[in-house]
Parts: sequence; C-alpha cells; structure tokens
Amino acid sequence: MRTHEQTVQQQFDPRAEAYLDSAVHSGGPDLEYAKVLVQRTAARTDQALDIGCGAGHLAFALAPYLGRVVALDPSPGMLATVSSGAAQRGLRQIEVRQGSAESMPFPDGLFPLVCTRYSAHHWTRLEAAIREIRRVLAPGGHALLIDALGAEDALTDTYLQSTELLRDVSHVRNRSRSEWRSLLHSVGLEEVEHREWPTRLEFSSWVARMRTPADRVAAIRTLQEAAPREVREALAIEPDGSFILRTGLFWLRGAT
Ligand SMILES: C[S@@+](CC[C@H](N)C(=O)[O-])C[C@H]1O[C@@H](n2cnc3c(N)ncnc32)[C@H](O)[C@@H]1O
Repeated sequence: MRTHEQTVQQQFDPRAEAYLDSAVHSGGPDLEYAKVLVQRTAARTDQALDIGCGAGHLAFALAPYLGRVVALDPSPGMLATVSSGAAQRGLRQIEVRQGSAESMPFPDGLFPLVCTRYSAHHWTRLEAAIREIRRVLAPGGHALLIDALGAEDALTDTYLQSTELLRDVSHVRNRSRSEWRSLLHSVGLEEVEHREWPTRLEFSSWVARMRTPADRVAAIRTLQEAAPREVREALAIEPDGSFILRTGLFWLRGAT
C-alpha cells in the first residue's frame, strides 16, 4: 500500500509537461499580482524559495526580480522540467531542490521571501508545513501563499473536495479563507494583504491534465448532476462539468 508521498510522486512525475503547458498554471491574475508584490519588495528580497514549484511557473515569473530562486518539489519529474525550462528562458538564478514542505532542507531564517502556489492543498501536515515556512523565513521577511480555496459553506465544500479527490488522488484539502486565516494567525504570520479571483476550470482539460481514469470522470459528472441548486450555483457548474474555483492569495509578513 502506497504512502501519500508516494502517491504525490506517482501523480506528478509523469505529468510535468502537462503542467508546463497548462493555461491555468502558466498565467492568471494571481501570477501577475505576485510579480507586483515581489517588485515592490525586491530591494530587500534577493533570494526566494518556491515550495511545490511544480513545472515552475511561479519561479519563472519571479526570477527576473531576484538574485536566486530555489524551486523545491518532491517530484523529480517536475524538477527536471523546471531545470530545462529555466535554461531555455536564460533564468540561471533558478536552482532546484528535492523536498517537501513539511520538512525543508534549509537552515533557519535563510529566505527573505517564501512562496507557494497551487501546492498547499496536497500537503498532509499543513500546520507543520506552515511552521516550516515561518522557520526558514528571514526575520521580517515576506511569505506569499496562493492556493485554490475551499468553500465556507459545508455542503458546497463537501461536493468540491469530493470532486477534487476523484480527479486527483493526491488531493488533500482546499482550505477556506477563514481556515487559512486562523492557521496563519496561530503561527504568527501577519496578513498584509489578501486577494481572491475566480478561476474557471475547463472540465476536459482539467481531468486530462491528471489523466483521471474514465470511471472517476464519470463519478465526478454523477456528483455534479446530483448536486443541489445552491451548490451548482456556488461552483457555477456548467453543462459540460466546467466550474469555478476561487484562487486566494495571502501576502504575509513574519516576525522581526
Ligand atoms: C499544481 S502543482 C504546482 C504548480 C506550480 N507551483 C505553479 O505555480 O504552476 C503542485 C505541486 O505540489 C507538489 N507537492 C505535493 N505535495 C507536496 C509537499 N508536501 N511539499 C511540497 N510540494 C508538494 C507536487 O509534486 C506538484 O509539483
């Protein structure tokens, strides 16, 4: 029987190219806003860590403003894609490192900027991972956390999380805005700014990217069709199964 860590690698290793080409991951208002935030602080932020870098879109976007970006991921397939993508783009300041958010191979206080985008919903020990972020953050440094949000409403959230898990067995949980706020506050990361955007997930490319087996695709469609009106409205479920997730961005400051 596999561990969750093995499931993550099994899911992501063979799918790195699909993530490199994914429109949801390669662009978006969250990525544009991340650049604005980093440009604002770049003078004080010569190096950054990107946790759960996937195919590298956040690292590629931020690297031009930084002297060094360490891209961390447990999947060797993703890291190989980041290395070749960085070389093609002439981004020599990006280096890759294998590892997980819950236990990071870095000394305390190393990074003035710690980022993560669309990865935290795969982390099994979220609180331990957030404590690790705080540990590797330099005093007074910034953390940038971007992820798909869970719903505040329990019924909608149950449908959303079930759909996500059927699509990708490495899914753990999309935390809601209020869950994030209380967790971040509890570890002493101060919220400086929060933004949200709707992200439309086009159904066929969403399941193709993860090579979701046909029986699970059918189960997702069955769930969506069974969903009550309030859930269908909250997730803006379309006739072909496409729907809207909310992307949340938290810009945080560590203790000085
Ligand atoms: C959707 S991809 C990330 C997308 C990428 N950050 C971007 O901006 O395009 C999710 C990544 O999280 C990684 N991941 C899963 N569990 C992790 C963990 N515990 N710690 C760090 N990364 C993890 C996966 O290997 C995968 O590469």
